Amino acid sequence: MTAINKSKLPPGPKTKSPLGYLFSYRRDSIGFLKKISKEYGDIVHFKIGNIRVVLLNHPDYIKEVLSTHHKDFVKGRPLKMAKHLLGEGLLTSEGEYHKTHSRIIQPAFHRNMIESYVPAMTNVIAQITNKWQDGMKADMKDEMTKMSIAIAGKVLFDADIEQEAVEISEALDTATSLFGRISLPFSEWLLKVPLPGNKKFYKAKAKLDSIVSRMIKERSVRKLDNGDLISLLLQSQCKNGDAGMSDEQIRDEAITLFLTAFDTTSTALTWAWYLLSQNPEAETALHKEIDIILQGRLPAADDIPQLKYTRMVFGESLRLYPPSYVIPRQALKDFSIDKYIIPRGSIILMSPYLIHHDSRFYAEPEKFNPYAWDKHTGSSSSKYEYFPFSRGPRSCIGEPFAWMQGTVVLAAIAQSWRITHVPGHKVELLPLINLRAKHGMMMTLHRRN
Ligand code: HEM
Repeated sequence: MTAINKSKLPPGPKTKSPLGYLFSYRRDSIGFLKKISKEYGDIVHFKIGNIRVVLLNHPDYIKEVLSTHHKDFVKGRPLKMAKHLLGEGLLTSEGEYHKTHSRIIQPAFHRNMIESYVPAMTNVIAQITNKWQDGMKADMKDEMTKMSIAIAGKVLFDADIEQEAVEISEALDTATSLFGRISLPFSEWLLKVPLPGNKKFYKAKAKLDSIVSRMIKERSVRKLDNGDLISLLLQSQCKNGDAGMSDEQIRDEAITLFLTAFDTTSTALTWAWYLLSQNPEAETALHKEIDIILQGRLPAADDIPQLKYTRMVFGESLRLYPPSYVIPRQALKDFSIDKYIIPRGSIILMSPYLIHHDSRFYAEPEKFNPYAWDKHTGSSSSKYEYFPFSRGPRSCIGEPFAWMQGTVVLAAIAQSWRITHVPGHKVELLPLINLRAKHGMMMTLHRRN
């Protein structure tokens, strides 16, 4: 092992504790990252156990890692825990394997395919909102989760799973609550011990596996090829020993896409409803646009390019509350950045949350202003100031799907409903795998005339 030149390490807090800053990070990851970047600057080094961690807090540095020198980094250790749930899917795999599978799956996210998903999305929205009543109180986190699960099931697998949405969401919550252990130095070992938490994890994983396997099996029996995700996966299945995907690989890709699709999008939409409820001017502008363009219809694919303000609302919500609030990588070799060296094996953290709230890049970072977002992202020279979907070759494959779903859900619901925040309901951040609202999002549904 080559010795580390400590004088070239980036600055950062130091502690004698063998656990490093494990508990400070686990207690309040966003608060901790904010604090150290304020104290030490845009490149900060600290330790969690014996692992070196480097926070990069400037768009130029982030571009180096995600794009310019992306080959020098892997998802690595931070994604290892996720593999216990997702296997070798697009999110967790690396190298040629990832490239080949990405090429197979990409057509499901082409523009014409995404447009063809709109009627299925609006059907699901109508089914769910038909159960709403004027004046009813609802947890918008639950409503958006149910909706996003049903949309992902219908669009990606042509399966009707709204009835199972609660079970699916609870299983995912149980499975991901264990991911908090990811930062523990001995996390891999912990998962092998028969602790009660681990039993719950494997039970939740089995539940999710069985639902996804059933959706794959049903489609395989129906032999329907409509170009959607599951058609593409089944087409690439290895037959008679050729070089296609195995059943296990198909399962891994299917579960990855299913879970990543609904968890992120439902989180983003929950925050969007909250922000609209706090910003009446934006809410009025949204209603005005929808009333003029849709005139009482549900949105169709042709309407989407005209729903500009609706899209801005979704974009600005993703700025203030990016579901993926931290994007990690691991350095494959010593990496020079500015005047420092990041040693091989270090974990690099890049936080859309921190960058999106930085007054160096946004004039009024805490203000919800969809017009400002549009102006800024439209004219910005550095795209890395806004990266809720990451950037570079490993950015989100589902981004066009998310923009479409975000716009369609906001437009279809805001056309008939005004949604206000229940007074006194506490709103706090819960940074788990995604940036959730800790106490859910209790809101009142008012039917619009
Ligand atoms: C608002 C919604 C969404 C957000 C904020 C989001 C965010 C992200 C981010 C930040 C990454 C990169 C992670 C990294 O670099 O380590 C990512 C990757 C990924 N996302 Fe999304 N995502 C969203 C919606 C979706 C949807 C709807 C799908 C699928 C239908 C999806 C599927 C994936 C997959 C498969 C990857 C891995 C891509 C790869 O590594 O090649 N995401 N997402």
